[in-house]
Amino acid sequence: LELVQALSDLGLKPGDDVLVHSSLSSIGWVDGGAPTVVAALIEAVAPGGTVLFPGLTGSVADSVENPPRADLRKDPVSWVGKIPAAANARGDSRRSLHPTHSVIAIGARADYWTEGHERCETPCGEGSPYHRLAVEGGCILLLGCDQESNTSLHMIEEIRRLPYHLHDGIAEGVVIDREGKEYRVLTRLHRWGVPRVFDRMDPALDVCGAQQRGKVGEATCRLIDATANFHVGIVMLAEDPEAFRTLPAES
Ligand SMILES: CC(C)(COP(=O)(O)OP(=O)(O)OC[C@H]1O[C@@H](n2cnc3c(N)ncnc32)[C@H](O)[C@@H]1OP(=O)(O)O)[C@@H](O)C(=O)NCCC(=O)NCCS
Repeated sequence: LELVQALSDLGLKPGDDVLVHSSLSSIGWVDGGAPTVVAALIEAVAPGGTVLFPGLTGSVADSVENPPRADLRKDPVSWVGKIPAAANARGDSRRSLHPTHSVIAIGARADYWTEGHERCETPCGEGSPYHRLAVEGGCILLLGCDQESNTSLHMIEEIRRLPYHLHDGIAEGVVIDREGKEYRVLTRLHRWGVPRVFDRMDPALDVCGAQQRGKVGEATCRLIDATANFHVGIVMLAEDPEAFRTLPAES
């Protein structure tokens, strides 16, 4: 109940569609652990809302020559945390068919948000859940983590087709769905090891009221309007295509 109240105080409300990036330990001790946090998120957006989590499975070894193979019956990669893994373990979750940037969704529109990811040219770009959330009024919750975890900023890099972000060429990935059925999915791949300064988004989002900051337990949180996140990022990159890679010049 306390978690649900804290999420509501942050601005999460019934009917919201929210993509959550998270750190369980940042909240402080939670009875029941990650499944309790997932249940609180679902309750905070019910009725009518949907909670999404990154179900990332890519690795630094992925390339066009060595295409990714993702078995979606397994957990997402450990570096997205225990909360997405707990969401993935629930019988009412859905998972989009993508070999590196799958999302896990629970709630009223889980089927809707996970549909069609396998037809996207880039992992987070046009038609992906990350992009659709931005153009259809969703939100992003950074629960105990910062802008460095805001995958939707890669979506903006993909829409802008920034040359530093993606491998050349299209990989023929393989996705195995939860029933064990195999799909071939053509996709571009993220380049690994390109440093970002995504925290440059914070002042821009704050100044236009696009993110609400607050606490859930001990966790520092940001609830971001996904549409504003998209627009602010597009403007920043239009002014300077290197904005997500470089600190602002000293004035
Ligand atoms: C990397 C990251 C997940 C690490 O956060 P974390 O809190 O240490 O890890 P998890 O969320 O998996 O939580 C597990 C930890 O919670 C703590 N924990 C365990 N049970 C707990 C409980 N009941 N209550 C509270 N904390 C608990 C433990 O420290 C545990 O660590 P351990 O498994 O090593 O023992 C986080 O910092 C992060 O970056 N999250 C965002 C990831 C993301 O979405 N990235 C997008 C990529 S572009």
